[in-house]
Amino acid sequence: MKESIQIVLNELETQSNLEKSRKVDVTAEDRMLAITKETGEMLNMILRLNNVKNMLEIGTSTGYSTIWCAEAISENLGEIITIEQNPNKIKRAKENFEKAKLSDGISIKEGLAIEILSELNTQKKYQGFFDFVLIDADKENIVQYFDLIFPMVSINGIIVTDNMLYPEKYREDMKKFSNYLKTNPRLRTVTSPIGNGEEITIKIK
Ligand SMILES: C[S@@+](CC[C@H](N)C(=O)[O-])C[C@H]1O[C@@H](n2cnc3c(N)ncnc32)[C@H](O)[C@@H]1O
Repeated sequence: MKESIQIVLNELETQSNLEKSRKVDVTAEDRMLAITKETGEMLNMILRLNNVKNMLEIGTSTGYSTIWCAEAISENLGEIITIEQNPNKIKRAKENFEKAKLSDGISIKEGLAIEILSELNTQKKYQGFFDFVLIDADKENIVQYFDLIFPMVSINGIIVTDNMLYPEKYREDMKKFSNYLKTNPRLRTVTSPIGNGEEITIKIK
């Protein structure tokens, strides 16, 4: 891995651990709430194994998951569109992408996920376009997000959803989401215990 990327990942892991152990004072809305390192490694491997070029992420935060993914995708000259509503996090994410020397392959869409997804969903270019999607934003709108994303995913495209098992407060709703995915004959899906619990879903013909 390039040194510039490793340095930023290390810094963000340190910050995330400090926040989780409450050793730093950060307002609720500015907490990173990042995926775990193990999840980052798994996403990176999935992207490499599938030669993913076009990725969509819902929930950039300060860019930790985006950087794990961009590290793999940049080797395929691929691109990531990532959505975030918090201006302070967007600023920090941009600084992190610059520092990791990954800015060229990452485009941040600033605003509410539902509005941005609705806008992307109407564009012909994005029908069946994304080989990989990471869903990691608010949980209340997760089914709507998925329904908007579904037509934009390619056949054999992968959708990973974080927080299926942890924090426990989301578990019941996330179980309902997983059951919702299982009703769709165009999907195969499994809940993996990696990290905070990752739903790994593929779109089939
Ligand atoms: C769990 S964090 C994302 C963590 C990030 N994927 C990582 O691993 O580094 C969720 C992010 O989604 C953003 N978010 C929550 N609701 C949103 C919405 N409705 N539209 C856009 N972003 C939203 C939050 O501001 C937060 O930064």
